[in-house]
Amino acid sequence: MRRKLAAGNWKMNGTKASLAEVAALIAAHPSPKSEVLLCPPATLVAAMATAAAGKIAVGGQDCHMKASGAHTGDIAAEMLADCGASHVILGHSERRADHGESSDMVCAKAAAARAAGLVAVICVGETEAQRDAGETLALVGAQLAGSVPDGATAANTVIAYEPVWAIGTGRTPTLEQIAEVHDFLRAELVARFGTEGEGMRLLYGGSVKPSNATEIFATSNVDGALVGGASLKAADFGAILSALDAA
Ligand code: 13P
Repeated sequence: MRRKLAAGNWKMNGTKASLAEVAALIAAHPSPKSEVLLCPPATLVAAMATAAAGKIAVGGQDCHMKASGAHTGDIAAEMLADCGASHVILGHSERRADHGESSDMVCAKAAAARAAGLVAVICVGETEAQRDAGETLALVGAQLAGSVPDGATAANTVIAYEPVWAIGTGRTPTLEQIAEVHDFLRAELVARFGTEGEGMRLLYGGSVKPSNATEIFATSNVDGALVGGASLKAADFGAILSALDAA
C-alpha cells in the first residue's frame, strides 16, 4: 500500500509571517492519515522545520548536483538536510524553463539528494503544444527515464505529474487524461524498478484546489497532489488534505 502524500510547493512566496499558516494547518489536522509535506523557499526551510516540529515534513524546491563548492547562489542537498528538510522538489517545469534544467541535470540532482538522505520529488509534464501534438506520453516517458536515477526506490523517490498548461491557470486535464498519464507512468516505473516502482508515489499537480481534489484523488494511480497556490493558505491546503484522507 502506498501512503498518500499531500505536498505543497510555496514557490517564491512566503516570509516568516507565513509560518502562521503552518501552525494553523497542524492545529486543524493534528493526525492526518496522509503524509504532509510543505516546500517553502529555501530562506524558510529551517524556521518551518522548527515550526513543524516533526508533525509535517519540510522540503526544498531545488538543490545543486554537487555536495559543495564554488556555485554562488546555489544550495546543496546536504544543506537542506542540515536545516531539517527531508525532501526536495527537483525538475519542476519552472526550473526546467527558467533555468534550463535538463533531465540529465535533474537526474544528477536526484542522486545528490539521495546521498544527503533526502526524498526526491521529481516532476514531469508536457506543455500545451506538446499535448496538442499528441506527444504527451512520449514526452513524460522521456523525462521520467532521464530524470530518475538508477537504483531509485519507493522510499527515496516520488514522481509528480504536472502538465505545464495546468499550473497556475485554473485549468486541469480531464480525469481520463490524468488517469492515462498516471497509468502510463506507473507501468514505466514498474518496468524499470519492479516492486520499488510499484511503491513509488505518483502525485498530480496543476490547479489542484478544494473543489476538484476529491475527484482527482479518486483517479487511477493518483497517490496525492503537489499543490502550488492552494498550499499557501492552511484552510485551502487543509481542505485538500481532508479530501486525500477521505480518498
Ligand atoms: P498550482 O497549484 O498553483 O497550479 O501549481 C502547481 C505546481 O506547480 C506545484 O508544483
